[in-house]
Amino acid sequence: MPVTPVLTRRWNTANVHTLEAYEQADGYQALRQAFDLAPDDIIKIVKDSGLRGRGGAGFPTGMKWGFIPQGDGKPHYLVINADEGEPGTCKDAPLMMIDPHSLVEGIIIASYAVRATNAYVYVRGELVHAARRLRAAVAEAYAAGYLGTNILDSGFDLDLVIHSGAGAYICGEETALLDSLEGRRGQPRLRPPFPATHGLYASPTVVNNVETIASVPFIISGGVEEFRSLGRERSPGPKIFSLSGHVTRPGQYEVPMGTTLRELLDMAGGVREGRALKAWTPGGSSTPMLTAEHLDAPLDFEGMVEAGSLLGTAALMIMDDTTCMVRTALRLAQFYAHESCGKCTPCREGTTWLVSILKRLENGVGDQQDIDTLLDACDNIFGRAFCALADGAVSPIVSGIKFFKDEFVAHYTEGGCPFADTRSTVLAGAH
Ligand SMILES: Cc1cc2nc3c(=O)[nH]c(=O)nc-3n(C[C@H](O)[C@H](O)[C@H](O)COP(=O)(O)O)c2cc1C
Ligand code: SF4
Repeated sequence: MPVTPVLTRRWNTANVHTLEAYEQADGYQALRQAFDLAPDDIIKIVKDSGLRGRGGAGFPTGMKWGFIPQGDGKPHYLVINADEGEPGTCKDAPLMMIDPHSLVEGIIIASYAVRATNAYVYVRGELVHAARRLRAAVAEAYAAGYLGTNILDSGFDLDLVIHSGAGAYICGEETALLDSLEGRRGQPRLRPPFPATHGLYASPTVVNNVETIASVPFIISGGVEEFRSLGRERSPGPKIFSLSGHVTRPGQYEVPMGTTLRELLDMAGGVREGRALKAWTPGGSSTPMLTAEHLDAPLDFEGMVEAGSLLGTAALMIMDDTTCMVRTALRLAQFYAHESCGKCTPCREGTTWLVSILKRLENGVGDQQDIDTLLDACDNIFGRAFCALADGAVSPIVSGIKFFKDEFVAHYTEGGCPFADTRSTVLAGAH
C-alpha cells in the first residue's frame, strides 16, 4: 500500500517554509477560494467533509465551529493547540517546521468561518524551532497582506499570535491551555460552560489541533468528495500516523484513515530485525495497548473502539518481544504522576500510588495483592477525575495486565524482572 500525501504533499518541496516556495506550490489559493464563499458555507463544507479533530478526541470539526454563537456582539477567538505532549506523538511539530504556511492558511480560513478576528497558536515550550518557523511565516504573511486588516480586499481582519508554553503536558488539555494563555497556572476548567461560549477571556472560542486546521485548505480546494474518497464513512480523510519504537523505519506516514497497523508496518520495514511484535499503542500512551492480535483492526475512531482502545493521536509506539510490560507501565505511570496538575485527588494521589506499587513489582518485592491493588486503584481513578489525563494514566496498566498478566505475576514469583537479562543482552548487542 502506498502513502497518500495530502497534508505532507509539500514536505519534499525545497524551502516550502518560505512564503515564496509555498505560493509556488499553490499556497494561499484555498484562502482566495474561501473568501468567495460566505462564512456559513465554509462551516457547511467542513461539516459535510466529516473532518474530525486530530488532537485525540475526534470531535467533528464543522459541528464545533457551528456551536460558536453568531451576532452575539462578543469577540470570537480561534486557538490552535500545538502543545503536542502525548508520548509517541510527533506529527504537529514536523508539520509546523516544514510547512508552517499551510497552518497559517488554515487558521485564516477557519477564523473567517467562525468570525474570529484574533487567533493564537499555543506551541509546546520545547518546540523552540517550530515556534521560530511559525513566527517567521506569520511575519511573511503580514507583509504579504494575508494577515492584518482587510485581508486580500475581503474586508476581513485577523491578527495571529504565536505563544510558547512552558512544557506542561496538561496545557494540551484545551481548558488548561486557555488558562495558561490568559497568564494563569494551566489547570483544567470546570465544564460547562464550554469554550464555544465561554473560552478565551470568557468569549466564544474554537480550540483545534494543528493537523485539524492544516486539513482545511485541502478540503476547500479539493472539495468534500475528494476528502471523503480517503478513509472510511465515519472517519474520512487522510491521517498522519507517527511510528516510533521498535520499528525499522520510524517516522510520519500519511495514509487514509482506516489503514491497519499491518499495512503501516509493511511500509516502515516491519518490527526491528529478528524480533516479533508484542504490544503497541494506537494513539499515544493514553490509549489502551493492543497486541499482534489487532494487526488488522482499522486505524480509525470506530475501528479502535471496536478493538478495545482509542485512535487518540494516531501515535503508534511499537514494542517488540524484549519489552517488559511492568517496566513500560512503570515508566508511563511516572510520566503521568509527574504531569498531574494536582487539582483533583484521584489523579494527584492515585498516580503517585500507582508508581509506588509498580516500582515494588518491577524490583521483585511485590506480591499478588499488588496486582489487585493496582486494578482497584485504576478503577477508582478512571472516570472519577477532573480531566482525561487521569483516564490516560490508567490505560497502560489496565491494558498491560489484561494482555500480559503472567508477566506481572512472574515479577514476584521469579523475584524480579524476567526481562532484565534480555534487556542487557539487547543493549550490549547494540554496541
Ligand atoms: C491531558 C490532555 C492533553 C492533551 N494534549 C493535547 C495536545 O497536545 N494537542 C491537542 O491538539 N490536543 C490535546 N488534547 C485534546 C484537547 O483537549 C482538545 O480536545 C483538542 O485540542 C481539540 O482539537 P481537535 O478537535 O482539533 O482535536 C489533550 C487532552 C488532554 C486531556
Ligand atoms: S485529572 Fe489530574 S491533570 Fe486532570 S485536573 Fe485532575 S489532577 Fe489535574
